[in-house]
Amino acid sequence: MTTSRARITKAVIPAAGLGTRFLPATKATPKEMLPVVDKPAIQYVVEEAVTAGLSDVLMVTGRNKRPLEDHFDRNYELEQVLRDKGDETKLSRVEESSDLATMHYVRQGDPRGLGHAVLCAAPHVGDEPFVVLLGDDLIDPRDPLLTHMTRVREEHGGSVIALMEVPQESIHLYGCVAAAPTEETDVVRISGLVEKPPAEEAPSNLAIIGRYLLDPAVFEVLRKTEPGRGGEIQLTDALQTLAAEPSLGGPVHGVVFRGRRYDTGDRADYLRAIVRLACEREDLGPEFRDWLRGFVTEEM
Ligand code: G1P
Repeated sequence: MTTSRARITKAVIPAAGLGTRFLPATKATPKEMLPVVDKPAIQYVVEEAVTAGLSDVLMVTGRNKRPLEDHFDRNYELEQVLRDKGDETKLSRVEESSDLATMHYVRQGDPRGLGHAVLCAAPHVGDEPFVVLLGDDLIDPRDPLLTHMTRVREEHGGSVIALMEVPQESIHLYGCVAAAPTEETDVVRISGLVEKPPAEEAPSNLAIIGRYLLDPAVFEVLRKTEPGRGGEIQLTDALQTLAAEPSLGGPVHGVVFRGRRYDTGDRADYLRAIVRLACEREDLGPEFRDWLRGFVTEEM
């Protein structure tokens, strides 16, 4: 196990999924590039990583994901056009995404599950603790979840995952944990994990949301993890092995998140995320909220 105080600088973002729930929008465009107000969803996730001090970002991509690389790279032609026009505001918006972090890419090849995607990051990450951020979950920048998770790892070592209480009828959509309280409110020690259990078999109403701070011991475990739910290599199953055998890579703790989370993984949640974020924007919010009030009262 590496020391729990090693500074964490690496973020891994799995982005190889096909995004079939958003067809036909995702036929030729990666789902990560769908706009949430005026920024692609993936940019919020990279910004969250950077705000938490993770300046080295590895995206695990697949076929048809070139636009992701282009988005986080320079676009000299567009920059020059905007510079010639003297449009500094738009120029800075274009430059924002290419100046964010040091970006790296690895291709997953066969999409064999989240655990497999994380394993593709092993050569880049090496023997350091690292953070995995799933692109479907947006965490409001005002609720610094990763910073809290980092503090928990400093105290307990091992791995730390983000959890959220969900209604029992939704638990089958998530990984679920069995956990015991610790001395700190909203920090739990995890004894078991199961991927997407039927409600009647779920050990709790605590769902895994897409933020994981992982000890590098997880790679060795993933190499030996057999395909699980859906025939895929599940990160949840590898964490179950770590939780059951802390001598492999330290304990597994959970931080119960009570802040603002926006799910962009399915269409209705994606629409909610856009409306909520648009309402809160200083530039668009006031006018949009007025319109929305009128729309709801007069037209619905
Ligand atoms: C993945 C994980 C699951 C977790 C979820 C959070 O599932 O396997 O444990 O609860 O992300 O969004 P997915 O939604 O990718 O099927």
